Amino acid sequence: MSIYQATASAPVNIAVIKYWGKRDTKLILPTNSSLSVTLDQDHLRSTTTSRADASFERDQLWLNGKEDEIKPGGRLATCIAEMKRLRKETVEDKNPEEPKISDYKVHIASYNNFPTAAGLASSASGFAALVASLAHLYSLPASPSVLSAIARQGSGSACRSLFGGFVAWDMGTQPNGSDSLARQVAPQSHWPEMHALICVVSDAKKGTSSTSGMQRTVETSALLQHRIAHVVPERMESISNAILQKDFDTFARITMKDSNQFHAVALDTEPPIFYMNDVSRAIIALVVEYNRLSVEKGQGYKAAYTYDAGPNAVIYALEENVKEVVQLVVSYFPQKPEEFKDVLGLFGERGSLDLNAQAKVPVGFNEAVAQRFEIGAVKGLIHTRVGDGPRRLSDEEGLLAAHGLPK
Ligand code: DP6
Repeated sequence: MSIYQATASAPVNIAVIKYWGKRDTKLILPTNSSLSVTLDQDHLRSTTTSRADASFERDQLWLNGKEDEIKPGGRLATCIAEMKRLRKETVEDKNPEEPKISDYKVHIASYNNFPTAAGLASSASGFAALVASLAHLYSLPASPSVLSAIARQGSGSACRSLFGGFVAWDMGTQPNGSDSLARQVAPQSHWPEMHALICVVSDAKKGTSSTSGMQRTVETSALLQHRIAHVVPERMESISNAILQKDFDTFARITMKDSNQFHAVALDTEPPIFYMNDVSRAIIALVVEYNRLSVEKGQGYKAAYTYDAGPNAVIYALEENVKEVVQLVVSYFPQKPEEFKDVLGLFGERGSLDLNAQAKVPVGFNEAVAQRFEIGAVKGLIHTRVGDGPRRLSDEEGLLAAHGLPK
């Protein structure tokens, strides 16, 4: 008897042109196009195993070992139904020899290798891994772009995690969403020197979710309308060119402007939404001063901050400058000893030593731009880089045991 099962992993992506606003909340069609950098799955990923079996009584999903309800008509149910429909239409109806596994119920187990408490969005990598694993389970001939349209209905930003490298999500114009798809602007190999430093900022209170926050912005912000009509189209083009030309200075300027404008439309929402806190703003001050100094030396911008719907900073920098950026951040935000995993070998042999001993600011840096914080204000630093798209994994890496329940 055949076992129908597949496992895939998918990456996190961090937007440099932000998606914020839907014109169709059911199909998840955005009010503007967006663009992101896919981060390396070796460091941050969601892994998902899907199995179809005639004996299963209902579709079930476990997230990090705990069962998650699949609400009828909800986003998960939609993605699973769309994948079954693709299996039926593109495989089973075309070739009657193929087993009719689209009629079977599925068991799905998913696992994030980063703590949810880190406040990193897991919905993008999660829905991308779900769709990628089902595509393998169903042996679909579908392209990543077709799959992106299904992941999009799970969470908008998830469509961009179907590709590695630098990825655009074209908003499209069709009411049915058929042209609202992700597209690769450049692969990981085009600019592998693009690195990212995630500063995990502690946040006690629960913020406004992206889904409800952006809907309120659409309903109440006049600034959002200006952004959609007059700002994003031009930025999409300029940042795509900057990426193609590996022009970090332009990439950085646009990235920071777009993060700022996203937080400005959040503030322009009624009632206003604040995602950044004092720590977030201090990190901005450090990056601004760091870039000022770099421009003074004739080198252009060397770091770019961006913030999503929370206080965490993601700082993009080229490989050659990341160590300096880490040392700068640690000067203001001391880390718990042994907390930093130097996975990309920034500090060589000393990587396992106390990171705080490595803290320093560049010569000429105006130290008064921010106050120094206590240990814990930035509770972790994750150094990663641009990465590839979803990967198929072997059965040994599967998350479901023989009986079809999580291991
Ligand atoms: C600020 O994709 O999480 O991270 O489509 O409602 O699930 P839903 O929203 P989501 O929003 C992401 C917003 C953002 C910007 C971005 O990733 O482009």
